[in-house]
Amino acid sequence: GLNVKISGVGYSLPDKILTNRDLEKMVETSDEWITQRTGIKERRIAREDQPTSYFATEAAKKALSYAGLSPEELDLIILGTVTPDMSFPSTACIVQKNIGAKKAAAFDIQAACTGFIYGLAVGAQFIHNGVYKNVLVIGAETLSKITDYTDRNTCVLFGDGAGAVVLSPSSEEGIISVHLGADGRGGDLLSRPAGGSLKPITLENISSGEQYIKMAGQEVFKFAVKIINETSKECLEKGNLTNKDIDFFIPHQANIRIIESAVKRLEIPKEKVYVNLEKYGNMSAASIPVALGEVVEKGLIKKGDKVLMVGFGGGLTWGGIIIKW
Ligand code: ACO
Repeated sequence: GLNVKISGVGYSLPDKILTNRDLEKMVETSDEWITQRTGIKERRIAREDQPTSYFATEAAKKALSYAGLSPEELDLIILGTVTPDMSFPSTACIVQKNIGAKKAAAFDIQAACTGFIYGLAVGAQFIHNGVYKNVLVIGAETLSKITDYTDRNTCVLFGDGAGAVVLSPSSEEGIISVHLGADGRGGDLLSRPAGGSLKPITLENISSGEQYIKMAGQEVFKFAVKIINETSKECLEKGNLTNKDIDFFIPHQANIRIIESAVKRLEIPKEKVYVNLEKYGNMSAASIPVALGEVVEKGLIKKGDKVLMVGFGGGLTWGGIIIKW
């Protein structure tokens, strides 16, 4: 098949900052607890009039401008999210309208925190096979809208934002290897029970708080450490690489302790690992593309660098990808 590269990146974040000190006034918690257990210091929160598509659209425009493409040159838009503007139309279709990508097909992917990696894997196939040229892949969330700010177990963790990339054909090697996985048996560990067809939004479901994120923190923690390690190894093996070949590691930004344990097992040096969760918390599908956007913006990646990105989350789902920049 044809080579696929990332030709553009962009990200967008809400202006409003919610600090650990702010959370101390909302639930029984402390800056010290949150910092020690998660590494998070603050997160960005969308305004009431800013749905997920708002940030997705901003990120998409920046990624297109970076790639030097006009919206009409896009063939497909894939958007990973667990916080779509509504059930349908898809948020990808809303972004398609907002940016004027008249010739692009558009759909959402639901793979929770792995949504962006799943989107990259799917989008790359269309270019690989020669079906499409330019594919926009977005990870966008406004998790604050489905977070219970009276539940200290979850409300300290999440934030809002969006990141996007443009995938295009390339004469050189771009995407080196991909690995995706799922285990639906662990679905209960991380879910938003109400709001779908199983438990539609009714007064009864709302009063029980089932429209909010539910999480079995410790189980998810153990799963995360194990799966980052396994997924990274699968990606390295499929790409005929070792951990020493990786120049940049961008894991899903859920918790600093998860990242530190995984990185220790993988024996990847700290300076090669990108972490921004202290500023943004866990933005689910948006975490990895925002981190990638920052890495590029700061000029940290050089041409030819090999970047390993690994996501994991609700489903359960996981996925990794190695790209040559
Ligand atoms: N402030 C103070 N105390 C708290 C808070 C808080 N914000 N949250 C929980 N506690 C308390 C608990 O109630 C518990 O008290 P108890 O012992 O009296 O019952 C105590 O702290 C310890 O709780 P644990 O759950 O054991 O704490 P742990 O060290 O496991 O940390 C955490 C909790 C941060 C949630 C951790 O388990 C974690 O990060 N898990 C993974 C989360 C994750 O990665 N999610 C990713 C996917 S997200 C997605 O897909 C949308």
